[in-house]
Amino acid sequence: MILIFSIEFSESYINFHVYNSLEVFLFRYLVTSALPYINARPHLGHLIGSLLPPDIYVRYLRLKGEEAIYICGTDEHGTATEIAAEKAGVTPQEWCDRYYKLHKEDYEWFLLDFTGFGRTSSPSNHELTQYVFKKLYKQGYIFEKSVRQFYCPNCKRFLPDRFVKGICPHCGAEATGDQCESCGKLLEPEELLEPRCAVCGSEPVLKESKHLFLDLPKFAPKLKQWIKANKHWPDNVRNWALSLIPTLKPRGITRDLKWGVKVPLKGFEDKVFYVWFDAPIGYISITKDFVPNWRKWWTSKDTRLVHFLGKDNIPFHTIIFPSCLMAAGFILPYNVIAAEYLNYEGKKFSKSKGVGVTLEDARKLPYPPDYWRYALVSMSPETHDSDFSWKGFQESVNELADVLGNFVNRTMVLTYKYFDGKVPEPGNLSKEDKRIVKMIERAPTEIAMDFERARFREAQKSVLELAREGNAYLNDQEPWKNEKVRANVLFLSLNICRSLSILFSPVIPQLSQEIWELLGEKGRVKEQRWDDAGKLLLKPGKKLKKPKILVKKIDDKEVSKYEEKFGGAKMADTVSFEEFKKVDLRAALVKEVEDVSGADKLYRIALDVGELGSRTVVAGLRKYYKKEELKGKLLVYVSNLQPKKIFGLESRGMLLAGESDGKVSLAILDRGIKPGSRIY
Ligand code: MF3
Ligand code: ZN
Repeated sequence: MILIFSIEFSESYINFHVYNSLEVFLFRYLVTSALPYINARPHLGHLIGSLLPPDIYVRYLRLKGEEAIYICGTDEHGTATEIAAEKAGVTPQEWCDRYYKLHKEDYEWFLLDFTGFGRTSSPSNHELTQYVFKKLYKQGYIFEKSVRQFYCPNCKRFLPDRFVKGICPHCGAEATGDQCESCGKLLEPEELLEPRCAVCGSEPVLKESKHLFLDLPKFAPKLKQWIKANKHWPDNVRNWALSLIPTLKPRGITRDLKWGVKVPLKGFEDKVFYVWFDAPIGYISITKDFVPNWRKWWTSKDTRLVHFLGKDNIPFHTIIFPSCLMAAGFILPYNVIAAEYLNYEGKKFSKSKGVGVTLEDARKLPYPPDYWRYALVSMSPETHDSDFSWKGFQESVNELADVLGNFVNRTMVLTYKYFDGKVPEPGNLSKEDKRIVKMIERAPTEIAMDFERARFREAQKSVLELAREGNAYLNDQEPWKNEKVRANVLFLSLNICRSLSILFSPVIPQLSQEIWELLGEKGRVKEQRWDDAGKLLLKPGKKLKKPKILVKKIDDKEVSKYEEKFGGAKMADTVSFEEFKKVDLRAALVKEVEDVSGADKLYRIALDVGELGSRTVVAGLRKYYKKEELKGKLLVYVSNLQPKKIFGLESRGMLLAGESDGKVSLAILDRGIKPGSRIY
């Protein structure tokens, strides 16, 4: 079927079709998005990071005639859920039932076209997780080990790293047991000074507990060979994955919790699997819950499994989950596409700090989903971290209005004015007309490349370029003045609109459907064939619907309103001089430096701060500076920071230092001024 109709076309076209039609017969695409945590209300960063790209990809593949399914769902187990439910006074199950619905509604509003949106707490996921575990166990990939872990006697619960808080031994700031947000260092919970339970604040104790470990080093040779062979993977993913291989360590896969998948092994009845063990297995169980023949999808060599995720999930999708898949006899991912991070007006999205826009917020604003989809793709962190800004949102939407909306509208209005709303009959084509025909013919092939590589930002630019060319063609030919060119120009422009509606439909499905219907076409544009966008299929005589404004522009007033409401760049990024002046910076002379016993990263430093007298700070500088190096240096000192107890010593104030790539450098005053002098 496909071969037959491609023969009508030019040679290069036939080759392309043959190549693709082979793929049609050989592969089926199983596309996944990292399963969002049930506890975090999703925000724009989640949408563009891992949810929207696979949707665009699957829509594109379907237009290409491929069989493609999109699998997603909520990642529900773990301590975070247990604690959130407890705080809300409901069971974890009730909590998850409620939030599952909210997630689903959010995503459907943004037109994510899932084949199945399931849950990791489903019976099928419990069953499959145990199945995968047994496979691993039987083949000797699992061993038992005792570990010491913080336990809160008050909450009666072992505390995962993130639920231990304390003081960072490096910078003295408040930190959690996995990482210090202030200085960015990765931590082990036991390194924290003055550890506390993050839930109730009591002092946790270290307790022994038996756990099961996945013996990842045993997989290293196979993983290495497999990753090396995947030359088509994006560099960021492949390089990161390869760099992990030499450092692989066994990984604990059980936890002392209740909310999770039970461990089917004697002696482990009270434990559940670590949430990261059962979550990716969710991809399989959700397929099972929603798609007939799930086993074929997950075992047949004809399936191309493609994962979309944020970059922090790379190790799980290139090392840990593939190890499980190998042992359990399922297929391995064909590709892993990892997004960088989207910031919000230059800052990290953070629910606790109220930075950013949740999907729930966005849905309440007077913009249809396609405005968001288009704007987010324009700002997408595909190749490097990027920034959502309200200005950027406005620019994107207005660009869509000026270029696409305007082109479709002009073409239709002119057709109504001169041809009674019917597609005109073209005559002999001019040189310029022929150039336009070529452009239409080539468009689907050219644009396909970027969609195939999941470079949607580029892809979308190229589609818009076609509309831009259309506008230029109208401006040039002036069909309103020049009667001779009128029929040809409008016939071809209307056909460009038809092509645009197909080529744009993966990104902006609703607007594309509207264009499709305005052109008097029947059915759904998402069910058309991609390659038909290269043909002149809008036939003379066809009656169009009445033109209307497709995309409404956003004005500056609206944007300022949202900047104010949600926090915009202007407010977030500057500090008034008055505020700055509250920080009392002084020149401080280092008098004495001593080790802090029991804390191998810390020094106790005595400073001479002139009129403020002598001060003592405790600082995590031991790894970076020798004592002799520090003595006699004139440093920049923050005098009015709230005092803090570190290792029983009072630390007053703070020394300024910078850090990059593991190197630390103190701010040193390069001329002798008096200790205690103010610094502005
Ligand atoms: N919930 C995780 C996150 O949001 C992703 C889980 S992906 C899966 O970072 F593979 F485990 F499902
Ligand atoms: Zn506690």
